[in-house]
Amino acid sequence: MKKILTGVKPTGDQMHLGNLLGAVLPFKKLAEKNDSAIFIADLHALTSVKSAEDLKRNTHEMALTYFSIFGIDTPVHIFRQSDIPLIPKLNWILNNVTPYSLMLRAHSFKDSLFNDALQKQKEWERNAGKETANEFNKKYKNHPFNDDNEISSQVDSIYAEQFKKVPILNMGVFNYPILMAADILAYDTDIVPVGQDQKQHLEMTRDIAKAFNKTYKTDIFKLPTEYIEKDVATLPGIDGRKMSKSYGNFIGLFDDDKTLKKKVMSIVTDSKGVDDIKNPDECNVFALIRTFATPVRVESIRAKYLAPGYGYGHAKLELLEILTEYLKPYHDARAMLEKNPELIEAKLQEGARIMNARIEAKMQKVKEVVGL
Ligand code: ADP
Ligand code: TRP
Repeated sequence: MKKILTGVKPTGDQMHLGNLLGAVLPFKKLAEKNDSAIFIADLHALTSVKSAEDLKRNTHEMALTYFSIFGIDTPVHIFRQSDIPLIPKLNWILNNVTPYSLMLRAHSFKDSLFNDALQKQKEWERNAGKETANEFNKKYKNHPFNDDNEISSQVDSIYAEQFKKVPILNMGVFNYPILMAADILAYDTDIVPVGQDQKQHLEMTRDIAKAFNKTYKTDIFKLPTEYIEKDVATLPGIDGRKMSKSYGNFIGLFDDDKTLKKKVMSIVTDSKGVDDIKNPDECNVFALIRTFATPVRVESIRAKYLAPGYGYGHAKLELLEILTEYLKPYHDARAMLEKNPELIEAKLQEGARIMNARIEAKMQKVKEVVGL
């Protein structure tokens, strides 16, 4: 049995059917066969969520979502990152063996820097006219971060000059991968299921573990491996592109009946009429039917596409029924949990108790090794 751990950031985004099928259900399947835990990374969310109310609401929403999917009695430990006080301590210890140059290479940091730069550029365009903005742009294009060159006083001076007044990029964003390394290394994790965008963070986690082991001539930290789900089909959204929160084309796991109906009815199709023969394999409605209906029903709907008298309106109504049925267990579980917030809290506390107990001995050893 492997030790499996992953974290999800409570940023307030709704879970959609693409996330469910492409990430969460495959994780659940793997997790239930192993010794697994999933935590709500509320400390990580502090880099971007700046309202106590929002953070609390997002964290609760995330707990509701995961317990609705996994079941309240799941063998997978579900907990809140901030309920494990030794993690920030380990984070600090790891900070001191992590090279600055390693962190400068983090995509997450560079992306944030780039976003800030773009914002700054827009501001310049507004205030100082396009010409000055182009100057800035030229400088940014030659920015050493853009081609992975390391470091430098050059960066610092460009940064100081151009970004002095940009308070958006905080040290939490810069330190983010080290906190993530602490999350993973504290539990001797074997496997970390993540999306492709987190691959670099796992490489950094291994680098940080090696740096610690080398510095203190120990093998205390185990090197974890990422697990990136391959071969998952991409679920299309209501406009036919990949379902994604950034396209606003998603169907939410917990959309209410009215929203679900509105979204299904607005799925984009071609303009064939009721009596035209239609190609199911080129239809966005059918792509969702194929994913969520039983094989028998899929075949019966396929036959209807290939005969007159069946319009896209009919197909959409069938899809609505299929999705409503598919989502019902999740909606029922959520309705039950919404009435029992104290049950969720108790379960999160139980998860934290187990995970805290697991790292106590390890942290004792780490402290001995570094001399604390
Ligand atoms: P979004 O595109 O909505 O921003 P994320 O990038 O946050 O989604 O996705 C998190 C995980 O959910 C991804 O690693 C991927 O495995 C899965 N996922 C997201 N959208 C889809 C989709 N349309 N089809 C299949 N899997 C998806
Ligand atoms: N960085 C991850 C994300 O943005 C969330 C996360 C934090 C995480 N700590 C982790 C994932 C530890 C896996 C393991 O999605």
